[in-house]
Amino acid sequence: MSEKKRVLVVDDELNIRRILEAAFDRHGWHAAVAANADEALGMLEAGSFDCVLTDVTMPGMNGYELQNQIHVRWPETPVVIMTAFGTIPQAVQAIRDGAFEFVTKPFDLEALKRVLSAAMDETVGAKAKRPAKFIPKRTTFIAESPAMREVFETLEQIADSRATVLVTGESGTGKEVVAKLIHELSPRGGEAFVAVSCAALPETLLESELFGYEKGAFTGAHGSKPGRFELADKGTLFLDEIGDIPPAIQVKLLRVLQEREFERLGATKPTRVDVRLVTATNRDLNRAVEDGTFRLDLLYRLQVVELHLPPLRERTEDIVPLAEHFLARSSKENGRTLRLIGSDALSLMMGYNWPGNVRELENTMERAVVLAPKDEEVLSARLLPRNLQRAA
Ligand SMILES: Nc1ncnc2c1ncn2[C@@H]1O[C@H](COP(=O)(O)OP(=O)(O)OP(=O)(O)O)[C@@H](O)[C@H]1O
Ligand SMILES: [Mg+2]
Repeated sequence: MSEKKRVLVVDDELNIRRILEAAFDRHGWHAAVAANADEALGMLEAGSFDCVLTDVTMPGMNGYELQNQIHVRWPETPVVIMTAFGTIPQAVQAIRDGAFEFVTKPFDLEALKRVLSAAMDETVGAKAKRPAKFIPKRTTFIAESPAMREVFETLEQIADSRATVLVTGESGTGKEVVAKLIHELSPRGGEAFVAVSCAALPETLLESELFGYEKGAFTGAHGSKPGRFELADKGTLFLDEIGDIPPAIQVKLLRVLQEREFERLGATKPTRVDVRLVTATNRDLNRAVEDGTFRLDLLYRLQVVELHLPPLRERTEDIVPLAEHFLARSSKENGRTLRLIGSDALSLMMGYNWPGNVRELENTMERAVVLAPKDEEVLSARLLPRNLQRAA
């Protein structure tokens, strides 16, 4: 029996089938070809494949419908979709529906082979990787308002996929909390969660932080150092303030997302990683794309799932449960008893617009706890900061 990986190529264009079949055979895989989806399904029934690469537009059933059927009937078989650049939004939807990846036509053959290798590696890894033990979640996430319940439901749904997630929302709305929660609820929960703030570092430093470097890569590189991507291997990498990354790093990021590999600075050989990427921004990335400061193809890859966290003033149902949670936590830490919210404080808090969102509420509650008399149980209006009293 041959140990060769079996790849099924589905495309209605004879030329593409020929080119890919020859290229994959040369690469040491066994390639089979089908001219349409029905033929492909027949071949999948007849024998198993390690990966399917399919075109989208074909007579009869299209590539997305084929992907959906494969996902249901052979869930372990990864599907990579070939699409034209103009139809990326549909391809992104296919990833949400379970496709492994998409490549845009015309494609670079070497890159395509790397994507398929990654697809086949990952399914082997994914089966072995599911943790046997339950990993308790550590992050408290309060979500009472309909908007936040919806966020939480989506989050639970997508946690165990490898889809990238873009978390958007004003400062202090809980973007990092959401990123941690995705990690903890995923099969990667027992592995590393690595966070990088992209705005905090100048370009060259950011690049070496993310991708690492080899000895002698630049003046002062006396040894080699792994980057955050390597540190997050098998886990989750959280890139905060993604809207601030410079163009050169955007290109590198795009490549890691597509091919799961990159080079350390000064390295000649690529490094392979299996990282789930979650990013966050309080900027409007669509505007950044229009301005020409952010790549559209990268944005598509980053926002396979987008979670928007509304500002606190638009989800007032969360104010009391969050406040009570912060009061209880802070009282416990400080050996105090403050835990209830008085009606005068409540009306001020409900009427206030919380420009600093949940973080401001957290700080406000911590401040009240330390200012309150030792055995006070009820938060009264006079324990709230003056600016809040005036604004409300
Ligand atoms: N839903 C929530 N439940 C419990 N705590 C929360 C929730 N949302 C936010 N917090 C708390 O509020 C604080 C701010 O949250 P976080 O740091 O995630 O915000 P952010 O959106 O990343 O802000 P920034 O844009 O300023 O980085 C944190 O201390 C976090 O623990
Ligand atoms: Mg943050």
